[in-house]
Amino acid sequence: MISLKSNKIFRRIVSYRPDRFIKGIIANFTATRRYSLAKKNNPNILQKNNQLSERGFLKFDKIIDETKLKKLTKINKLFQKNECCISYSMGKYTNGITKDADATYIKNEFISNEFISSLKESDAWKIIEKFHGCKFYCRQLSIFKTSSKENVPQGSFRFHRDGHPPFSYKILFYMTDVDFENGPTAILPNSHDYKIIPGFGKYSYDRPIDKDLYIKTAIAGKTGTGFLFNTNVLHAGGRTTKGERIIAVLILHPMWFSESNLPQFEMKKDVGSIEYDVF
Ligand SMILES: [Fe+2]
Repeated sequence: MISLKSNKIFRRIVSYRPDRFIKGIIANFTATRRYSLAKKNNPNILQKNNQLSERGFLKFDKIIDETKLKKLTKINKLFQKNECCISYSMGKYTNGITKDADATYIKNEFISNEFISSLKESDAWKIIEKFHGCKFYCRQLSIFKTSSKENVPQGSFRFHRDGHPPFSYKILFYMTDVDFENGPTAILPNSHDYKIIPGFGKYSYDRPIDKDLYIKTAIAGKTGTGFLFNTNVLHAGGRTTKGERIIAVLILHPMWFSESNLPQFEMKKDVGSIEYDVF
């Protein structure tokens, strides 16, 4: 009889992925190098934020002020315009709005730079810059909507880590009111400090379903509720059982150029592009 522990070890060995191991090592090395360059170019005083280090995430009742929020949420109307949207369903993206989409994204060209500049002034952005002692930039922005399909729940209870290189963060914010039915994000506190060997199956590609944990850790909030989280923290996407939900997700990385060398348009906005997912 194989014990539970040895069974677990066995499963990790058989799920070994040499390609992910190599990519993970490269990503780690590159991230560490970029971070040290970023710190060199931005020699600020390092200030610890205990909540962020201990819990792995921070929640903000209002991530930006009311006036900015009103301006930014005007983008929600674009979800009714076919030419402004890309739909995602069964691993494929289709231009326009499709009825059976798992998620609908706003196309890059319809997202203004004001979106990033408003968030840049938020406490969330300032906190990680102080925390790490260097500037951060937005590497990717996605604005998307999830809906229940004719009362069939969409989304999942799958918890995962994003598999991003070290020093990556996400700002996620609700562009509509989110209750326990239209797709709250679930985040498990204190779960980010987890050492892992890339390629040995414990990150994105091993996403256990945990309904009880999802219900326990899902966070409802009004429009403008925001989260800053370490991409290593265990989280689950919103499960929409009724109505719809719109959220914006920004991926932030240390700015390893000096600011003066940065191109005017610093952000790479890939609609629904696949995240790193290498670990
Ligand atoms: Fe994720």
